[in-house]
Amino acid sequence: MAQPCTYVVFGATGNLSMTKLMPAFYHLEKHERLDNDVKILAIGRRDWSREQWLETVKEAVIPKARGGITDEVCDRFCSRLDYFKMDILDGEDYVKLKEHIEANKWPTNMAFYLSLGPDQFAPAVEFLGKANMLKQDAGWRRVVLEKPFGYDAESAKQLQKRLNRYLDEEQTYRIDHYLGKGMVQNLMVFRFANLMMEPLWNRNYIDHIQITHAEDKPVGTRAGYYDTSGAMRDMIQSHLLQLLALVAMEPPASMEAEALRNEKVKLLQSVRPILKKNVHTQAYRAQYSEGMVNGENVPSYLQEPGVSEESVTETYAALKLYVDNWRWAGVPFYIQTGKNMPKNRTIVAIRFKHPPKQFFRESQVKKMEPNWVVFGIQPEESIRIEITSKQPGLDIITQQTSLDATLKGDEQTSYDAYEELLLDVIKGDRSLFLRYDEVKAAWNVVDPVLQAWASETAYIDTYPAGTWGPDGAKKLFDHPEQCWRYHYTPECA
Ligand code: BG6
Repeated sequence: MAQPCTYVVFGATGNLSMTKLMPAFYHLEKHERLDNDVKILAIGRRDWSREQWLETVKEAVIPKARGGITDEVCDRFCSRLDYFKMDILDGEDYVKLKEHIEANKWPTNMAFYLSLGPDQFAPAVEFLGKANMLKQDAGWRRVVLEKPFGYDAESAKQLQKRLNRYLDEEQTYRIDHYLGKGMVQNLMVFRFANLMMEPLWNRNYIDHIQITHAEDKPVGTRAGYYDTSGAMRDMIQSHLLQLLALVAMEPPASMEAEALRNEKVKLLQSVRPILKKNVHTQAYRAQYSEGMVNGENVPSYLQEPGVSEESVTETYAALKLYVDNWRWAGVPFYIQTGKNMPKNRTIVAIRFKHPPKQFFRESQVKKMEPNWVVFGIQPEESIRIEITSKQPGLDIITQQTSLDATLKGDEQTSYDAYEELLLDVIKGDRSLFLRYDEVKAAWNVVDPVLQAWASETAYIDTYPAGTWGPDGAKKLFDHPEQCWRYHYTPECA
């Protein structure tokens, strides 16, 4: 059970809060994971009363809860909620906020969740600091920052400098919601709770590693943010480099936050910087044109509301990276992500080398398939080990079979990443949150590519919406037999 605390959610009426944070709190309530004394204070700009906020939550959040709702849970949850109107950029409002919390005698442990635009992180923290709300004399004070943390390495550094004046690293919870996903944590369990794979998990046996995140949705209503961000900043710098770190890092000294994050930082710092002259062979970008997704005609990115007419923002990005350390020297890591692809799919796929001699090759042309370990991160949660075996019958004819573990839980055990992370903030467990040096190392990986792309504004390749991305991205592979994997089962796109 988590400790008493006042959870203050800035930007509470926004999209993230309504679709992720409030539902996550509701499910924590349902599973009795919150202390009786956890208060959830929504901050918004609208002039709403507490009753209006409760109505909004009852209409827009609670009915969508997993596994149905009960009046009892609903009442318990609503009794925790309150609403406070304020202007994020007005320092006096923070003083009033403090008075409001004190007047209600709410818990003095406080978590401030900044579900705000990135340019509001620093002012909000400064105002909280000036209103004396970040000093930990009477209870702990923690600040949760949504991504993106900065726009590049330099702006992340400037942001950090401003936060440092009021906030210790130990109070800072930088969210990467991918770390709250069950299968992402399973990557670590699979690697470090089983001995079987560890001796093979290196350059001697692994041919390459792929990380794919595909979405069957367009940018939707987020063009204002996305058009200045693009797929590289939006997905690769954060979520996908975290997956890379977890799949490739050395075993940590323990599962404690610092030990774990030390290893991730070390790994990200070992990624070989992409030189300007190599950007065209190690990175690829494209934008979706008109097409058909899930049977529906969809417009091109340039036709989306809020996208600038001449935008060359990438909705698809791919990278080939090398990790220059003893374990991985020479092993390519291929990472890709795209919007408006045929399916939602996040996969981490490890391709092993061929055995040194192929006894069972059935003809001179047909090559044996290599072994793969494929982690289905979402929507299917699975681990699949692909092996070669003999087909039944007199002759020795080989086939690809797989050892499958589908890991999806049931209603009782499944949870959303935000549930785990909101709870960890109350527990003070930072192992699933990013440290500043980690964010910085991740920016250093993508910055050279972003700089090269920023100077090429005349042209961007396209891929029809509803396809698995641009053909040009296949050029990142070293050998023609290699291809992107979009499926849990062995087939190339
Ligand atoms: C967010 C990105 O961080 O992650 C979105 O801003 C993206 O563009 C989303 O769609 C993907 O998260 P998930 O959990 O749906 O895979």
